[in-house]
Amino acid sequence: MAEVVIVESEAEAGALVADEIARRVSARPDAVLGLATGSTPLPVYEALTSRLAGVNVSQVRGFALDEYVGLDPQHPESYRSVIHREVVVPLGLDADRVQVPDGRLAGIETAGDEYERAIRAAGGVDLQILGIGTDGHIGFNEPGSSFASLTRVKTLTAQTRADNARFFAHPDDVPRHCVTQGLGTILRAGHLVLLAFGQGKADAVAGAVEGPLTAMLPGSAIQLHPHATVIVDAAAASRLRLADYYRAAWRDKPDWQGL
Ligand code: PGA
Repeated sequence: MAEVVIVESEAEAGALVADEIARRVSARPDAVLGLATGSTPLPVYEALTSRLAGVNVSQVRGFALDEYVGLDPQHPESYRSVIHREVVVPLGLDADRVQVPDGRLAGIETAGDEYERAIRAAGGVDLQILGIGTDGHIGFNEPGSSFASLTRVKTLTAQTRADNARFFAHPDDVPRHCVTQGLGTILRAGHLVLLAFGQGKADAVAGAVEGPLTAMLPGSAIQLHPHATVIVDAAAASRLRLADYYRAAWRDKPDWQGL
């Protein structure tokens, strides 16, 4: 099962994950990071900025989970722009070593296959940061996505478009399609770290961690991964049946095990 860590604050979650990433980068300067967008991973990037100050990050590679289709890459809400602004610049990464799926309409038919090739050529993702949507998606793998899926074009649900409308001037501006790593792609990463904060994520978290394995809740795919860590605040943990067990397991965890 996934290891569940229930934290006091988003900052505590960010610090835990940033420590683990910094440890990996120190051990392996060309570590491959799986990057997520949205509000959830921001505390991780914030904490990482100070952890990586003074560390040579020139060889670090990164792959984003997903991108909107048909949005100009220069648009401030394209995930290319978001990753550049929120990750590449603050962490001082080499922009040429950080990739985002290509959502431009020209060539969209092959964008998924090319992204899969690029991830494979880099040797795979070492640590994948994940958020989870209120509908249970990870990446943009909406309910019904195959557990074997690879990077491809998907249609966003009405729920996801409504959730992401806050980033756009008008709800109609939210693109209808995306290119996303598949669940099969995500499951190939060495370590999955899924974060969720707030009551609005409680059902999705409970389904992902303790619910049946079902494509209707794509986050449940993490149950298939041998090394998945779920870091949640008390509100996001509020529907977990085994919360007391997770708290006890974390409290008694030997230091040598790491995250
Ligand atoms: P959020 O999105 O971090 O902005 O809540 C999570 C997701 O949709 O995966």
